[in-house]
Amino acid sequence: MDVLAEIKGFLGCETPPEWLQLAAKAETMELLLTDHAHCEKKAASTAMTLMFRYVDRSDLLNKMSRLAREELIHFEQVLGIMEARGLKYGHLTPARYAAGLRKDVRTSEPGRLVDVLIIGAFIEARSCERFAALAPDLDDELARFYRSLLKSEGRHYQDYLSLAESYAGGPIDDRVEHFRRLEADLVLAEDNEFRFHSGKPSAALLANGAALSP
Ligand SMILES: [Fe+2]
Ligand SMILES: [Fe+2]
Repeated sequence: MDVLAEIKGFLGCETPPEWLQLAAKAETMELLLTDHAHCEKKAASTAMTLMFRYVDRSDLLNKMSRLAREELIHFEQVLGIMEARGLKYGHLTPARYAAGLRKDVRTSEPGRLVDVLIIGAFIEARSCERFAALAPDLDDELARFYRSLLKSEGRHYQDYLSLAESYAGGPIDDRVEHFRRLEADLVLAEDNEFRFHSGKPSAALLANGAALSP
């Protein structure tokens, strides 16, 4: 089974067509790419936070170090595309998505680590699913770029999941199922904001568009 098919089976739902419709609009591009760049930078930062917190876990250190480097390369690639298109990269409030997932992280170890790793797997898996779903609706350069990201984000999903399994000391099915439902709820629930990981766009957002405010 290829990694995309595996990811589709892992996720609790597909991205709503309304999100794809809004994301592919020309006037959404600056916002989409700005938030995408933020997501890559945040992914590197999350991996490095884990490296500082769990210094005695060599498998985690190696996988997260490589992952952080790859995310920063993705960050530079998005910035390059934005610059070439005359689009401005700036501050942006984060989506409700990551905070919505993090709220259920357990407070004692190793539960905390395992939950953060499972959430990492879901964020990577969702990114992968969205890159694949968006690619056919984008211009050639962006479509090629998003398809190239599929591979590394697919591997990141597998890394996070295998680390969660190895550090849990027992089955993680219940926790995976818990976050699968939570993640799908965030993706399917109506959202007034457009972000790379936002939910189903509200009717007002669809009607007014999701351009960056000047
Ligand atoms: Fe990435
Ligand atoms: Fe990634």
